[in-house]
Amino acid sequence: MNSQNRRSKGRFAGSSRNKENILLKGGTILNVYSGELLKMNIAIKGERIWYVGPSSDVVSRDTQVLDVGNKVLVPGYIDPHFHPWFTYNPISFGEKACCLGTTTIFCDNLIFYMLMGVRLFEDFMDALSKMPIKFFWFCRAVPQTPMATEDELFSVKNLERLLKNPLVQSLGEITRWPEILRDNQKILEMIRLTKRLKKRVDGHTAGAKYEQLSILSRAGVESCHESISAKEALERLRLGFYVELRESSLRQDLSDLLRIVTENRVSTDRIMLTTDASSPLFYDECGATNHVLKIAMNEGIDPITAYRMVTINPAVYFGMDHEIGGIAPGRYADILALKDLAHPTPELVLSKGRIIAENSNLIESFPWKGWEAFFPSDSFSGRNWSAKDHHFHIASREKSRTFPTIRLINPVITRIEWVDFIIKDGLLNLDEKEGFCFLSLINRDGKWVTNGVIQGFGNVEGLACTFNTAAEILAIGRKPEVMSAAVNRVLDMKGGIVAIEDGRVVYEFPLPLGGLMSDLPIKQLARKDMELRDFLSTRGYPYHDPLYTFIFLPNDFLPDARINYRGVVDIRNDEVLWPRRDLGEF
Ligand SMILES: [Fe+2]
Repeated sequence: MNSQNRRSKGRFAGSSRNKENILLKGGTILNVYSGELLKMNIAIKGERIWYVGPSSDVVSRDTQVLDVGNKVLVPGYIDPHFHPWFTYNPISFGEKACCLGTTTIFCDNLIFYMLMGVRLFEDFMDALSKMPIKFFWFCRAVPQTPMATEDELFSVKNLERLLKNPLVQSLGEITRWPEILRDNQKILEMIRLTKRLKKRVDGHTAGAKYEQLSILSRAGVESCHESISAKEALERLRLGFYVELRESSLRQDLSDLLRIVTENRVSTDRIMLTTDASSPLFYDECGATNHVLKIAMNEGIDPITAYRMVTINPAVYFGMDHEIGGIAPGRYADILALKDLAHPTPELVLSKGRIIAENSNLIESFPWKGWEAFFPSDSFSGRNWSAKDHHFHIASREKSRTFPTIRLINPVITRIEWVDFIIKDGLLNLDEKEGFCFLSLINRDGKWVTNGVIQGFGNVEGLACTFNTAAEILAIGRKPEVMSAAVNRVLDMKGGIVAIEDGRVVYEFPLPLGGLMSDLPIKQLARKDMELRDFLSTRGYPYHDPLYTFIFLPNDFLPDARINYRGVVDIRNDEVLWPRRDLGEF
Protein backbone atom coordinates (compact mmCIF):
# COMPACT_ATOMS: atom_id res chain seq x y z
CA MET A 1 0.00 0.00 0.00
CA ASN A 2 1.01 3.62 0.32
CA SER A 3 4.60 4.06 1.44
CA GLN A 4 4.34 7.84 1.89
CA ASN A 5 1.77 7.55 4.63
CA ARG A 6 3.19 7.49 8.10
CA ARG A 7 1.29 6.59 11.16
CA SER A 8 0.33 9.69 13.10
CA LYS A 9 1.84 10.33 16.49
CA GLY A 10 -1.58 11.19 17.98
CA ARG A 11 -1.34 14.72 19.36
CA PHE A 12 -4.99 14.67 20.40
CA ALA A 13 -5.29 12.63 23.57
CA GLY A 14 -6.54 9.19 22.61
CA SER A 15 -6.59 9.87 18.88
CA SER A 16 -4.08 7.22 17.88
CA ARG A 17 -6.55 4.39 18.45
CA ASN A 18 -10.09 4.17 17.25
CA LYS A 19 -13.00 3.06 19.36
CA GLU A 20 -16.52 2.38 18.18
CA ASN A 21 -17.92 5.51 19.86
CA ILE A 22 -16.32 8.92 20.27
CA LEU A 23 -17.12 12.06 22.21
CA LEU A 24 -15.66 15.32 20.86
CA LYS A 25 -15.69 17.52 23.91
CA GLY A 26 -15.69 21.28 24.17
CA GLY A 27 -15.15 22.29 20.55
CA THR A 28 -16.66 25.21 18.67
CA ILE A 29 -18.88 23.84 15.92
CA LEU A 30 -19.51 25.52 12.62
CA ASN A 31 -23.22 25.02 12.11
CA VAL A 32 -23.55 25.28 8.33
CA TYR A 33 -27.35 25.16 8.54
CA SER A 34 -27.74 28.31 10.64
CA GLY A 35 -24.38 29.91 9.83
CA GLU A 36 -23.42 30.08 13.52
CA LEU A 37 -20.38 29.11 15.56
CA LEU A 38 -21.56 27.28 18.68
CA LYS A 39 -19.68 25.74 21.59
CA MET A 40 -21.05 22.19 21.84
CA ASN A 41 -20.13 18.56 22.32
CA ILE A 42 -20.54 15.89 19.65
CA ALA A 43 -21.29 12.26 20.46
CA ILE A 44 -20.51 9.80 17.68
CA LYS A 45 -21.92 6.28 17.54
CA GLY A 46 -20.38 4.08 14.88
CA GLU A 47 -20.35 5.90 11.55
CA ARG A 48 -22.92 8.52 12.52
CA ILE A 49 -23.36 11.57 14.69
CA TRP A 50 -25.57 10.62 17.64
CA TYR A 51 -25.89 13.91 19.46
CA VAL A 52 -24.80 17.55 19.17
CA GLY A 53 -25.36 19.82 22.16
CA PRO A 54 -24.40 20.81 25.70
CA SER A 55 -24.55 17.33 27.25
CA SER A 56 -21.33 15.42 27.63
CA ASP A 57 -23.05 12.10 28.19
CA VAL A 58 -21.24 9.32 26.43
CA VAL A 59 -22.91 6.77 24.18
CA SER A 60 -21.23 3.80 25.88
CA ARG A 61 -18.75 3.15 28.66
CA ASP A 62 -15.78 2.54 26.38
CA THR A 63 -16.32 5.80 24.46
CA GLN A 64 -13.15 7.52 23.37
CA VAL A 65 -13.23 11.10 24.67
CA LEU A 66 -11.27 13.70 22.71
CA ASP A 67 -10.76 17.14 24.18
CA VAL A 68 -11.13 19.57 21.28
CA GLY A 69 -11.73 22.58 23.52
CA ASN A 70 -9.60 24.99 21.55
CA LYS A 71 -10.59 23.73 18.10
CA VAL A 72 -13.18 24.70 15.53
CA LEU A 73 -15.07 21.70 14.19
CA VAL A 74 -16.35 21.84 10.61
CA PRO A 75 -18.00 19.22 8.38
CA GLY A 76 -15.72 17.14 6.14
CA TYR A 77 -15.20 18.78 2.75
CA ILE A 78 -17.03 17.60 -0.35
CA ASP A 79 -15.61 17.80 -3.86
CA PRO A 80 -18.69 17.77 -6.12
CA HIS A 81 -16.86 17.12 -9.38
CA PHE A 82 -13.66 15.15 -9.69
CA HIS A 83 -11.85 12.89 -12.18
CA PRO A 84 -9.99 10.29 -10.11
CA TRP A 85 -7.85 8.92 -12.94
CA PHE A 86 -5.33 11.69 -13.61
CA THR A 87 -2.26 9.43 -13.15
CA TYR A 88 -3.42 9.01 -9.54
CA ASN A 89 -6.28 6.65 -8.79
CA PRO A 90 -9.22 6.95 -6.37
CA ILE A 91 -7.23 5.33 -3.56
CA SER A 92 -4.03 7.36 -3.91
CA PHE A 93 -6.02 10.56 -4.37
CA GLY A 94 -8.39 9.69 -1.54
CA GLU A 95 -5.49 9.02 0.84
CA LYS A 96 -4.00 12.42 0.01
CA ALA A 97 -7.25 14.39 -0.07
CA CYS A 98 -8.62 13.05 3.21
CA CYS A 99 -5.49 14.20 5.04
CA LEU A 100 -6.41 17.68 3.78
CA GLY A 101 -10.03 17.38 4.92
CA THR A 102 -11.95 15.95 1.93
CA THR A 103 -14.24 13.15 3.10
CA THR A 104 -16.64 12.87 0.15
CA ILE A 105 -15.80 12.90 -3.56
CA PHE A 106 -18.19 12.81 -6.49
CA CYS A 107 -16.21 11.01 -9.17
CA ASP A 108 -16.26 10.68 -12.93
CA ASN A 109 -16.80 7.09 -14.14
CA LEU A 110 -15.43 7.66 -17.66
CA ILE A 111 -12.15 5.74 -17.77
CA PHE A 112 -13.23 3.00 -15.36
CA TYR A 113 -16.43 2.41 -17.27
CA MET A 114 -14.72 2.39 -20.68
CA LEU A 115 -12.17 -0.16 -19.51
CA MET A 116 -14.33 -2.26 -17.17
CA GLY A 117 -17.85 -2.25 -18.63
CA VAL A 118 -21.00 -2.30 -16.52
CA ARG A 119 -20.56 -5.24 -14.16
CA LEU A 120 -16.94 -4.78 -13.20
CA PHE A 121 -17.51 -1.07 -12.75
CA GLU A 122 -20.37 -1.85 -10.35
CA ASP A 123 -17.99 -4.10 -8.38
CA PHE A 124 -15.43 -1.31 -8.43
CA MET A 125 -17.88 1.24 -7.01
CA ASP A 126 -18.86 -1.28 -4.39
CA ALA A 127 -15.24 -1.95 -3.35
CA LEU A 128 -14.55 1.79 -3.09
CA SER A 129 -17.68 2.35 -1.01
CA LYS A 130 -16.00 0.35 1.76
CA MET A 131 -13.08 2.78 2.03
CA PRO A 132 -12.76 5.25 4.91
CA ILE A 133 -14.05 8.15 2.79
CA LYS A 134 -17.11 8.27 0.56
CA PHE A 135 -16.92 7.92 -3.21
CA PHE A 136 -20.03 8.71 -5.22
CA TRP A 137 -20.19 8.79 -9.00
CA PHE A 138 -21.38 10.68 -12.00
CA CYS A 139 -21.96 8.53 -15.06
CA ARG A 140 -21.26 9.73 -18.54
CA ALA A 141 -23.96 9.90 -21.19
CA VAL A 142 -21.34 9.79 -23.93
CA PRO A 143 -17.58 9.27 -24.03
CA GLN A 144 -15.42 12.26 -24.83
CA THR A 145 -13.88 10.73 -27.91
CA PRO A 146 -15.47 8.70 -30.72
CA MET A 147 -15.33 4.97 -29.96
CA ALA A 148 -16.15 1.93 -32.09
CA THR A 149 -18.14 0.47 -29.18
CA GLU A 150 -19.87 3.68 -28.13
CA ASP A 151 -23.48 2.80 -28.99
CA GLU A 152 -23.32 -0.47 -27.15
CA LEU A 153 -21.47 0.74 -24.05
CA PHE A 154 -23.14 4.12 -23.64
CA SER A 155 -26.68 2.85 -24.17
CA VAL A 156 -29.77 4.13 -22.35
CA LYS A 157 -30.22 0.62 -20.94
CA ASN A 158 -26.75 0.53 -19.38
CA LEU A 159 -27.14 4.05 -18.06
CA GLU A 160 -30.47 3.18 -16.45
CA ARG A 161 -28.86 0.26 -14.67
CA LEU A 162 -26.06 2.47 -13.37
CA LEU A 163 -28.33 5.32 -12.33
CA LYS A 164 -30.39 2.94 -10.20
CA ASN A 165 -27.26 2.22 -8.15
CA PRO A 166 -27.34 4.35 -4.97
CA LEU A 167 -23.63 5.13 -5.41
CA VAL A 168 -24.39 6.97 -8.66
CA GLN A 169 -25.71 10.45 -8.03
CA SER A 170 -25.78 12.12 -11.41
CA LEU A 171 -25.56 11.99 -15.16
CA GLY A 172 -22.55 13.95 -16.26
CA GLU A 173 -20.56 15.66 -17.46
CA ILE A 174 -22.20 16.17 -20.84
CA THR A 175 -19.25 17.37 -22.90
CA ARG A 176 -21.18 17.10 -26.17
CA TRP A 177 -23.62 19.83 -25.13
CA PRO A 178 -24.07 21.10 -28.73
CA GLU A 179 -25.83 17.77 -29.37
CA ILE A 180 -28.55 18.87 -26.94
CA LEU A 181 -29.05 22.01 -29.03
CA ARG A 182 -29.39 19.71 -32.06
CA ASP A 183 -32.13 17.77 -30.24
CA ASN A 184 -30.08 14.58 -29.91
CA GLN A 185 -32.86 12.25 -28.83
CA LYS A 186 -30.61 9.75 -27.11
CA ILE A 187 -29.05 12.35 -24.81
CA LEU A 188 -32.45 13.94 -24.16
CA GLU A 189 -33.85 10.53 -23.23
CA MET A 190 -30.91 10.03 -20.85
CA ILE A 191 -31.68 13.38 -19.21
CA ARG A 192 -35.37 12.49 -18.85
CA LEU A 193 -34.45 9.11 -17.39
CA THR A 194 -32.08 10.75 -14.88
CA LYS A 195 -34.80 13.14 -13.77
CA ARG A 196 -37.31 10.30 -13.40
CA LEU A 197 -34.83 8.59 -11.09
CA LYS A 198 -34.47 11.87 -9.14
CA LYS A 199 -30.76 12.24 -9.80
CA ARG A 200 -28.86 15.29 -11.02
CA VAL A 201 -27.79 16.22 -14.53
CA ASP A 202 -24.28 17.69 -14.44
CA GLY A 203 -23.37 19.93 -17.33
CA HIS A 204 -20.13 20.76 -19.07
CA THR A 205 -21.21 23.86 -20.94
CA ALA A 206 -17.74 25.17 -21.85
CA GLY A 207 -18.01 28.08 -24.26
CA ALA A 208 -21.84 28.10 -24.38
CA LYS A 209 -23.35 31.54 -24.92
CA TYR A 210 -26.34 32.91 -22.99
CA GLU A 211 -28.97 31.85 -25.56
CA GLN A 212 -27.45 28.36 -25.80
CA LEU A 213 -27.31 28.08 -22.01
CA SER A 214 -31.03 28.89 -21.94
CA ILE A 215 -31.74 25.89 -24.15
CA LEU A 216 -29.50 23.65 -22.03
CA SER A 217 -31.24 24.78 -18.84
CA ARG A 218 -34.62 24.13 -20.44
CA ALA A 219 -33.45 20.66 -21.48
CA GLY A 220 -32.67 19.80 -17.87
CA VAL A 221 -28.94 20.47 -17.44
CA GLU A 222 -28.57 21.59 -13.83
CA SER A 223 -24.95 22.52 -13.13
CA CYS A 224 -21.72 23.59 -14.74
CA HIS A 225 -18.10 23.75 -13.60
CA GLU A 226 -16.71 25.21 -16.82
CA SER A 227 -17.11 28.96 -16.25
CA ILE A 228 -13.81 30.69 -16.96
CA SER A 229 -14.91 34.23 -16.11
CA ALA A 230 -17.17 35.88 -13.55
CA LYS A 231 -19.50 36.87 -16.40
CA GLU A 232 -19.93 33.24 -17.46
CA ALA A 233 -20.54 32.09 -13.89
CA LEU A 234 -23.13 34.83 -13.38
CA GLU A 235 -24.98 33.92 -16.58
CA ARG A 236 -25.20 30.29 -15.54
CA LEU A 237 -26.36 31.16 -12.02
CA ARG A 238 -29.05 33.48 -13.37
CA LEU A 239 -30.29 30.76 -15.71
CA GLY A 240 -30.87 28.35 -12.84
CA PHE A 241 -27.63 26.38 -12.93
CA TYR A 242 -25.76 25.42 -9.81
CA VAL A 243 -22.18 26.53 -10.44
CA GLU A 244 -18.97 24.89 -9.34
CA LEU A 245 -16.22 27.50 -9.35
CA ARG A 246 -12.95 25.91 -10.35
CA GLU A 247 -9.29 26.29 -9.55
CA SER A 248 -7.20 23.64 -11.30
CA SER A 249 -3.67 23.04 -12.44
CA LEU A 250 -4.78 23.90 -15.97
CA ARG A 251 -6.79 27.00 -15.12
CA GLN A 252 -6.33 29.30 -12.14
CA ASP A 253 -9.66 31.10 -12.45
CA LEU A 254 -11.07 31.02 -8.94
CA SER A 255 -10.07 34.53 -7.83
CA ASP A 256 -11.80 36.03 -10.85
CA LEU A 257 -14.85 33.75 -10.63
CA LEU A 258 -15.41 34.73 -7.00
CA ARG A 259 -16.09 38.30 -8.10
CA ILE A 260 -19.70 37.18 -8.56
CA VAL A 261 -19.80 37.05 -4.77
CA THR A 262 -17.45 39.87 -3.81
CA GLU A 263 -18.71 42.35 -6.45
CA ASN A 264 -22.10 41.14 -7.70
CA ARG A 265 -23.13 40.06 -4.20
CA VAL A 266 -25.11 37.08 -5.50
CA SER A 267 -26.72 34.53 -3.24
CA THR A 268 -24.19 31.78 -2.62
CA ASP A 269 -26.48 28.81 -1.88
CA ARG A 270 -25.98 27.38 -5.36
CA ILE A 271 -22.21 27.92 -5.52
CA MET A 272 -19.68 25.14 -4.94
CA LEU A 273 -15.90 24.92 -5.31
CA THR A 274 -13.90 22.27 -7.14
CA THR A 275 -10.42 21.38 -8.39
CA ASP A 276 -12.03 19.37 -11.27
CA ALA A 277 -8.98 17.28 -12.17
CA SER A 278 -5.57 18.68 -11.50
CA SER A 279 -2.09 17.37 -11.97
CA PRO A 280 -0.46 15.43 -9.11
CA LEU A 281 2.02 18.28 -8.71
CA PHE A 282 -0.89 20.65 -7.98
CA TYR A 283 -2.30 18.44 -5.21
CA ASP A 284 1.13 17.87 -3.74
CA GLU A 285 2.14 21.53 -3.72
CA CYS A 286 -1.16 23.37 -3.23
CA GLY A 287 -3.61 20.91 -1.71
CA ALA A 288 -7.20 20.06 -2.63
CA THR A 289 -10.43 21.53 -1.25
CA ASN A 290 -8.47 23.12 1.61
CA HIS A 291 -6.59 25.06 -1.09
CA VAL A 292 -9.70 26.44 -2.81
CA LEU A 293 -11.17 27.37 0.57
CA LYS A 294 -8.02 29.34 1.33
CA ILE A 295 -8.28 31.18 -1.98
CA ALA A 296 -11.93 31.99 -1.32
CA MET A 297 -11.20 33.47 2.10
CA ASN A 298 -8.18 35.38 0.75
CA GLU A 299 -10.47 36.91 -1.87
CA GLY A 300 -12.65 38.30 0.89
CA ILE A 301 -15.42 35.68 1.01
CA ASP A 302 -16.88 35.52 4.50
CA PRO A 303 -15.38 32.35 6.07
CA ILE A 304 -18.70 30.76 6.99
CA THR A 305 -19.96 31.33 3.44
CA ALA A 306 -16.76 29.79 2.06
CA TYR A 307 -17.10 26.69 4.24
CA ARG A 308 -20.72 26.28 3.18
CA MET A 309 -19.58 26.20 -0.47
CA VAL A 310 -17.55 23.03 0.21
CA THR A 311 -19.92 21.31 2.63
CA ILE A 312 -23.66 21.90 2.75
CA ASN A 313 -24.01 23.41 -0.75
CA PRO A 314 -22.77 20.30 -2.61
CA ALA A 315 -24.70 18.09 -0.17
CA VAL A 316 -27.92 19.94 -1.00
CA TYR A 317 -27.16 19.86 -4.73
CA PHE A 318 -27.00 16.06 -4.65
CA GLY A 319 -30.02 15.82 -2.35
CA MET A 320 -27.82 14.26 0.34
CA ASP A 321 -27.87 16.90 3.05
CA HIS A 322 -29.53 14.43 5.41
CA GLU A 323 -26.34 12.32 5.12
CA ILE A 324 -23.36 14.63 4.55
CA GLY A 325 -22.30 18.25 4.54
CA GLY A 326 -23.15 19.28 8.12
CA ILE A 327 -22.69 18.44 11.78
CA ALA A 328 -26.08 17.32 13.09
CA PRO A 329 -27.60 14.14 14.54
CA GLY A 330 -27.95 11.29 12.07
CA ARG A 331 -25.37 12.55 9.60
CA TYR A 332 -22.17 10.69 8.84
CA ALA A 333 -19.58 11.68 11.42
CA ASP A 334 -17.31 13.44 8.91
CA ILE A 335 -15.74 16.11 11.10
CA LEU A 336 -12.57 18.17 10.85
CA ALA A 337 -10.82 19.81 13.79
CA LEU A 338 -9.22 23.10 12.72
CA LYS A 339 -7.00 25.56 14.55
CA ASP A 340 -9.53 28.19 13.42
CA LEU A 341 -11.59 28.99 10.33
CA ALA A 342 -8.68 30.85 8.74
CA HIS A 343 -6.71 27.58 8.61
CA PRO A 344 -8.72 25.07 6.53
CA THR A 345 -6.07 22.34 6.58
CA PRO A 346 -7.34 20.15 9.42
CA GLU A 347 -5.38 19.04 12.46
CA LEU A 348 -7.66 16.02 12.86
CA VAL A 349 -9.93 14.27 10.35
CA LEU A 350 -12.83 12.01 11.25
CA SER A 351 -14.62 10.22 8.45
CA LYS A 352 -17.52 7.77 8.94
CA GLY A 353 -16.88 8.11 12.67
CA ARG A 354 -13.23 7.01 12.55
CA ILE A 355 -10.16 9.13 13.06
CA ILE A 356 -8.35 8.76 9.75
CA ALA A 357 -5.76 11.53 9.66
CA GLU A 358 -3.90 13.83 11.98
CA ASN A 359 -1.74 16.81 11.04
CA SER A 360 -1.97 15.88 7.34
CA ASN A 361 -0.79 12.31 7.94
CA LEU A 362 -2.89 9.21 7.48
CA ILE A 363 -3.44 7.10 10.56
CA GLU A 364 -3.69 4.00 8.36
CA SER A 365 -3.53 3.30 4.63
CA PHE A 366 -6.88 2.57 3.00
CA PRO A 367 -7.69 -1.16 3.21
CA TRP A 368 -7.63 -1.64 -0.57
CA LYS A 369 -7.16 -5.22 -1.70
CA GLY A 370 -5.14 -4.37 -4.80
CA TRP A 371 -5.84 -3.63 -8.43
CA GLU A 372 -5.53 -6.98 -10.19
CA ALA A 373 -9.28 -7.66 -10.04
CA PHE A 374 -10.05 -4.40 -11.80
CA PHE A 375 -7.04 -3.91 -14.06
CA PRO A 376 -5.60 -7.39 -14.70
CA SER A 377 -1.95 -7.13 -15.72
CA ASP A 378 -2.61 -8.82 -19.08
CA SER A 379 -5.54 -6.57 -20.04
CA PHE A 380 -3.72 -3.63 -21.59
CA SER A 381 -3.88 -4.97 -25.13
CA GLY A 382 -6.12 -7.69 -26.51
CA ARG A 383 -3.41 -9.19 -28.68
CA ASN A 384 0.30 -9.62 -29.16
CA TRP A 385 1.51 -7.08 -31.67
CA SER A 386 4.25 -4.55 -32.17
CA ALA A 387 4.31 -1.16 -33.82
CA LYS A 388 6.21 -0.74 -37.11
CA ASP A 389 7.76 2.42 -38.51
CA HIS A 390 5.29 2.53 -41.41
CA HIS A 391 2.37 2.90 -39.01
CA PHE A 392 3.51 6.47 -38.42
CA HIS A 393 4.11 7.41 -42.06
CA ILE A 394 1.89 9.76 -44.04
CA ALA A 395 2.11 8.60 -47.63
CA SER A 396 1.48 10.70 -50.71
CA ARG A 397 2.06 10.35 -54.45
CA GLU A 398 2.64 14.05 -55.12
CA LYS A 399 5.90 15.99 -54.82
CA SER A 400 4.50 18.21 -52.12
CA ARG A 401 1.31 18.22 -50.15
CA THR A 402 -0.77 20.65 -48.13
CA PHE A 403 -1.67 18.93 -44.87
CA PRO A 404 -3.98 19.98 -41.99
CA THR A 405 -1.64 20.38 -39.01
CA ILE A 406 -2.79 20.71 -35.41
CA ARG A 407 -1.19 23.79 -33.84
CA LEU A 408 -1.24 24.01 -30.04
CA ILE A 409 -1.95 27.54 -28.85
CA ASN A 410 -2.07 26.69 -25.15
CA PRO A 411 -1.82 23.37 -23.28
CA VAL A 412 -5.17 22.15 -24.66
CA ILE A 413 -6.63 24.45 -27.33
CA THR A 414 -5.51 24.02 -30.94
CA ARG A 415 -5.89 25.65 -34.31
CA ILE A 416 -5.94 24.01 -37.73
CA GLU A 417 -3.21 25.22 -40.01
CA TRP A 418 -2.84 23.92 -43.57
CA VAL A 419 0.89 23.68 -44.25
CA ASP A 420 2.87 22.72 -47.40
CA PHE A 421 5.20 19.77 -46.90
CA ILE A 422 7.79 18.19 -49.16
CA ILE A 423 7.13 14.55 -50.06
CA LYS A 424 10.30 12.46 -50.03
CA ASP A 425 10.27 8.83 -51.20
CA GLY A 426 6.48 8.95 -51.13
CA LEU A 427 6.29 10.13 -47.52
CA LEU A 428 5.50 13.46 -45.91
CA ASN A 429 8.80 14.84 -44.64
CA LEU A 430 9.50 17.12 -41.66
CA ASP A 431 13.25 17.70 -42.24
CA GLU A 432 12.85 21.37 -43.07
CA LYS A 433 10.06 21.98 -40.57
CA GLU A 434 11.51 22.89 -37.19
CA GLY A 435 8.87 22.76 -34.42
CA PHE A 436 6.69 20.17 -36.19
CA CYS A 437 6.24 16.56 -35.07
CA PHE A 438 4.26 13.65 -36.40
CA LEU A 439 1.29 12.93 -34.16
CA SER A 440 -0.50 9.59 -34.27
CA LEU A 441 -3.22 7.92 -32.28
CA ILE A 442 -2.76 4.17 -32.58
CA ASN A 443 -5.17 1.58 -31.27
CA ARG A 444 -4.04 -0.52 -28.28
CA ASP A 445 -4.72 -3.68 -30.25
CA GLY A 446 -2.91 -2.33 -33.31
CA LYS A 447 -6.06 -2.39 -35.43
CA TRP A 448 -6.09 1.19 -36.64
CA VAL A 449 -4.09 4.40 -36.61
CA THR A 450 -4.78 8.05 -37.30
CA ASN A 451 -1.75 9.98 -38.55
CA GLY A 452 -1.38 13.71 -38.22
CA VAL A 453 1.14 16.49 -37.67
CA ILE A 454 1.37 18.74 -34.61
CA GLN A 455 3.17 22.06 -34.24
CA GLY A 456 3.81 24.06 -31.10
CA PHE A 457 4.54 20.96 -29.02
CA GLY A 458 8.35 21.17 -29.30
CA ASN A 459 10.76 18.72 -30.89
CA VAL A 460 10.90 15.18 -29.61
CA GLU A 461 12.40 12.21 -31.43
CA GLY A 462 9.77 9.76 -30.28
CA LEU A 463 7.29 9.78 -27.39
CA ALA A 464 4.41 7.41 -26.67
CA CYS A 465 1.67 8.01 -24.14
CA THR A 466 -1.33 5.97 -23.04
CA PHE A 467 -2.57 8.77 -20.77
CA ASN A 468 -5.49 10.09 -22.84
CA THR A 469 -9.28 9.79 -22.67
CA ALA A 470 -9.43 7.67 -25.81
CA ALA A 471 -7.52 5.05 -23.78
CA GLU A 472 -5.42 4.44 -26.90
CA ILE A 473 -1.75 5.21 -27.60
CA LEU A 474 -0.61 8.67 -28.63
CA ALA A 475 2.71 8.83 -30.43
CA ILE A 476 4.52 12.12 -31.04
CA GLY A 477 7.90 12.59 -32.71
CA ARG A 478 10.01 13.72 -35.60
CA LYS A 479 11.24 10.21 -36.39
CA PRO A 480 8.69 7.44 -37.14
CA GLU A 481 11.24 4.76 -36.24
CA VAL A 482 11.68 6.27 -32.77
CA MET A 483 7.91 6.72 -32.37
CA SER A 484 7.44 3.01 -33.04
CA ALA A 485 10.17 2.14 -30.53
CA ALA A 486 8.43 4.30 -27.91
CA VAL A 487 5.04 2.68 -28.64
CA ASN A 488 6.59 -0.76 -28.31
CA ARG A 489 8.08 0.25 -24.99
CA VAL A 490 4.68 1.31 -23.60
CA LEU A 491 3.19 -1.94 -24.92
CA ASP A 492 5.87 -3.82 -22.96
CA MET A 493 5.15 -1.69 -19.88
CA LYS A 494 1.38 -2.18 -20.37
CA GLY A 495 0.75 1.54 -20.21
CA GLY A 496 2.61 4.73 -19.48
CA ILE A 497 4.57 7.58 -20.99
CA VAL A 498 7.94 6.96 -22.67
CA ALA A 499 10.35 9.19 -24.56
CA ILE A 500 13.26 7.83 -26.56
CA GLU A 501 16.25 9.74 -27.94
CA ASP A 502 19.48 8.54 -29.49
CA GLY A 503 18.30 4.97 -29.06
CA ARG A 504 17.74 5.14 -25.32
CA VAL A 505 14.83 5.80 -23.01
CA VAL A 506 15.17 9.35 -21.64
CA TYR A 507 11.84 9.57 -19.79
CA GLU A 508 9.58 6.87 -18.47
CA PHE A 509 6.41 7.01 -16.39
CA PRO A 510 4.70 3.62 -15.95
CA LEU A 511 0.88 3.79 -15.69
CA PRO A 512 -0.07 0.15 -15.16
CA LEU A 513 -3.68 0.78 -14.10
CA GLY A 514 -5.56 0.93 -17.37
CA GLY A 515 -2.71 2.87 -18.97
CA LEU A 516 -3.84 6.07 -17.24
CA MET A 517 -3.11 5.53 -13.57
CA SER A 518 -0.32 4.53 -11.25
CA ASP A 519 -0.54 2.93 -7.84
CA LEU A 520 2.18 5.23 -6.51
CA PRO A 521 1.28 7.89 -3.94
CA ILE A 522 0.67 11.48 -5.05
CA LYS A 523 4.10 12.65 -3.83
CA GLN A 524 5.92 10.29 -6.19
CA LEU A 525 3.55 11.09 -9.04
CA ALA A 526 4.24 14.79 -8.49
CA ARG A 527 7.92 14.04 -9.01
CA LYS A 528 7.18 12.22 -12.30
CA ASP A 529 4.94 15.12 -13.34
CA MET A 530 7.78 17.58 -12.64
CA GLU A 531 10.29 15.43 -14.54
CA LEU A 532 7.93 15.34 -17.51
CA ARG A 533 7.60 19.13 -17.49
CA ASP A 534 11.39 19.52 -17.24
CA PHE A 535 12.02 17.02 -20.01
CA LEU A 536 9.51 18.56 -22.41
CA SER A 537 10.45 22.16 -21.69
CA THR A 538 14.05 21.42 -22.69
CA ARG A 539 12.65 20.04 -25.97
CA GLY A 540 10.70 23.24 -26.63
CA TYR A 541 7.29 22.45 -25.12
CA PRO A 542 6.19 25.95 -24.04
CA TYR A 543 3.30 25.29 -21.64
CA HIS A 544 2.84 24.40 -17.97
CA ASP A 545 0.65 21.30 -18.01
CA PRO A 546 1.69 18.57 -20.48
CA LEU A 547 -0.57 15.94 -18.91
CA TYR A 548 -3.54 18.08 -19.95
CA THR A 549 -2.18 18.27 -23.51
CA PHE A 550 -2.06 14.49 -23.70
CA ILE A 551 -5.40 13.83 -22.05
CA PHE A 552 -7.34 16.06 -24.44
CA LEU A 553 -5.61 15.56 -27.82
CA PRO A 554 -8.01 12.75 -28.86
CA ASN A 555 -11.25 14.25 -27.51
CA ASP A 556 -14.26 15.38 -29.51
CA PHE A 557 -15.28 18.70 -27.98
CA LEU A 558 -12.40 21.16 -27.66
CA PRO A 559 -11.61 23.50 -30.54
CA ASP A 560 -10.32 23.39 -33.19
CA ALA A 561 -8.62 20.17 -34.24
CA ARG A 562 -8.31 16.77 -32.56
CA ILE A 563 -6.90 13.38 -33.49
CA ASN A 564 -9.17 10.45 -32.72
CA TYR A 565 -10.83 7.28 -33.98
CA ARG A 566 -12.45 9.18 -36.85
CA GLY A 567 -9.22 10.83 -38.02
CA VAL A 568 -7.82 14.34 -37.78
CA VAL A 569 -11.05 16.19 -37.09
CA ASP A 570 -12.13 19.80 -37.40
CA ILE A 571 -14.29 19.97 -34.26
CA ARG A 572 -16.12 23.23 -35.03
CA ASN A 573 -17.24 22.02 -38.44
CA ASP A 574 -17.52 18.33 -37.52
CA GLU A 575 -15.37 17.42 -40.51
CA VAL A 576 -12.75 14.70 -40.91
CA LEU A 577 -9.72 16.39 -42.46
CA TRP A 578 -7.58 13.26 -42.69
CA PRO A 579 -9.12 9.84 -42.08
CA ARG A 580 -8.16 6.99 -39.80
CA ARG A 581 -6.27 4.10 -41.43
CA ASP A 582 -7.35 0.54 -40.60
CA LEU A 583 -4.34 -1.70 -40.13
CA GLY A 584 -6.13 -5.04 -40.14
CA GLU A 585 -4.21 -8.21 -39.33
CA PHE A 586 -0.44 -8.02 -39.55
FE1 LIG B 1 -14.61 18.04 -15.33
